[in-house]
Amino acid sequence: MNNKTNHTTGRKSSDRKAGRSGSSTDSNTGSRVILRAEGLRKYYGSNETQVRALDGVNLSIRQGDFVAVVGTSGSGKSTLLNMLGGLDTPTEGSIKIGGTELSRLNSDQATIFRRKQIGFVFQNYNLIPVLTVWENIVFPITLDGQKPDEDFILKVTELLGLTDKLDSLPGTLSGGQQQRVAIARAIASKPSIILADEPTGNLDSKTSSDVIGLLKMTSREFSQTIVMITHNPEIAQMADCMIRIEDGKIAES
Ligand SMILES: Nc1ncnc2c1ncn2[C@@H]1O[C@H](COP(=O)(O)OP(=O)(O)OP(=O)(O)O)[C@@H](O)[C@H]1O
Ligand SMILES: [Mg+2]
Repeated sequence: MNNKTNHTTGRKSSDRKAGRSGSSTDSNTGSRVILRAEGLRKYYGSNETQVRALDGVNLSIRQGDFVAVVGTSGSGKSTLLNMLGGLDTPTEGSIKIGGTELSRLNSDQATIFRRKQIGFVFQNYNLIPVLTVWENIVFPITLDGQKPDEDFILKVTELLGLTDKLDSLPGTLSGGQQQRVAIARAIASKPSIILADEPTGNLDSKTSSDVIGLLKMTSREFSQTIVMITHNPEIAQMADCMIRIEDGKIAES
């Protein structure tokens, strides 16, 4: 393993052959790097009890790529995703999204940046219990003073099988339904990056591949970049490329 290596995502040749929409080139080198992490470390605690959740991650992800992050439980996947999305600050290292260095943003600027640029699907969904499904989905958009694209959101919720649940409260939904609401919320604002932590962890295999199909479709339509953690090898295979995390480091695959 060489941790000085800057791991750059690339698409599978099958995708290149298929000619991805929005790409002016069919080579890996043409598309723009949208997300770059350098020397990323996150240490918890100190001395003997110190946990090195991330221990020197260098990573470049190109715009429009669909990246699967895999690795054993506790290897640092969620920590990496939270750092990439600016939800937590690294002990060391830098993260650039587009031209913006996240560490330069103060807390208010970081919140606004996240809301505009990033759609999160959290491991535990993070839905607001007192808001209906529809209100949850449009909440980040209205918070940002924007008008939701209702036709688009209705299409997304239909594809996710949520049409008859739009007026329900999250507490009345099954785990899988709540997970699909979280996915709809992440997609709804058409962010440039979607960071998804086990978005299919609670779904059966048919629904999982439908959801991944939807993510791929919307990401291509809107040139979105997706970084998705998964424990499911079949789901990981549907991504353009895979990053394996081991003990807080990127393992060469
Ligand atoms: N707030 C925290 N304080 C102390 N240790 C933490 C904290 N958050 C995470 N860790 C530790 O960092 C390591 C990486 O955790 P992380 O949640 O990133 O793993 P993961 O790969 O997402 O695992 P899983 O697949 O189980 O979700 C673990 O050893 C975990 O115990
Ligand atoms: Mg995790």
